[in-house]
Amino acid sequence: DWKMSNYVDQAIQDIRDQVGDSRVILGLSGGVDSSVAAALIHRAIGDQLTCVFVDNGLLRLRERDRVEQVFRDHFHVDLRVAKSGKRFLKALKGVTDPERKRKIIGKIFVDVFEDTVKKIGDVDFLAQGTLYPDVIESVAIDGNPAALIKSHHNVGGLPKRMKLKLLEPFRELFKDEVRALGKELGLPDEMIWRHPFPGPGLGVRVMGEIKKSYLDTLREADAILLEEMKRTGYYSKVWQAFCVFLPVQTVGVMGDERTYDYVIALRVVESVDAMTADWAHIPHDILQIISNRIINEVKGVNRVVLDISSKPPSTIEWE
Ligand code: XMP
Repeated sequence: DWKMSNYVDQAIQDIRDQVGDSRVILGLSGGVDSSVAAALIHRAIGDQLTCVFVDNGLLRLRERDRVEQVFRDHFHVDLRVAKSGKRFLKALKGVTDPERKRKIIGKIFVDVFEDTVKKIGDVDFLAQGTLYPDVIESVAIDGNPAALIKSHHNVGGLPKRMKLKLLEPFRELFKDEVRALGKELGLPDEMIWRHPFPGPGLGVRVMGEIKKSYLDTLREADAILLEEMKRTGYYSKVWQAFCVFLPVQTVGVMGDERTYDYVIALRVVESVDAMTADWAHIPHDILQIISNRIINEVKGVNRVVLDISSKPPSTIEWE
């Protein structure tokens, strides 16, 4: 619509005025805000923008591929991918406490990001997809660590340490406006309407100690859940839908064989702001397909359970 295209022109002009011929770096997570920021800033300043995507090994199936496809192949953004899964796993070895896991993942993220930025050299600006609500809620609200971790994930101390100026084109925008902007800029719907995904990723969806094999199993189960949610139209009706890996083995039978395999929990919730949430009433026939597919297709899983807890007193994530 004409309003939005005017807005885009103005936003592009503002970015050019602010940046001049300096270099800008942006931490791309694949989430809505950073993706739209990347598309907008790239349209404004082209190759003066470099995006950094940290593959921490805790991402969902083909998530990195998708970001590379959209930003490198389609938009021709200068995208650096830091493949650092091994570094994260090593730092997380033996760690079971959820908050310690978060801290470690956050710290390694900042280290990897900083290393990558140093390699690029001569960077003047750090771009972030900070929204208006993030600006007013710069402190984490109890029960919703997202704001706090966001500042974490938005590489909190980095600008000062590296003497970077901030470029935050969405400081006056709300989420729905950023989505409309993303649409105008030609981002795929699937990116604009993506569910929230925590910074620590699957690291807080494998209960207790994280192992590569657990992550691989979880990724496959999670991909099946998301595929079925999208196929049946339920993906867009819920706030979040994901699988949780339980490192608990239970007995099953498959053909003539006794199995002793792991458990996957399904977590599907409705919410407006993640402060409270209700478990979503997904039709039984859909749940049945999801359960059958996960048990038949994912090696190492012989049981699927459904989380029917609301927030409060439970939380959306299990850790
Ligand atoms: P809980 O589990 O507290 O989650 O009900 C509320 C919302 O926040 C997300 N969440 C996180 N986001 N880093 C993030 O960026 C985190 O450590 C984190 N923990 C929870 C969660 O997915 C939900 O949307």
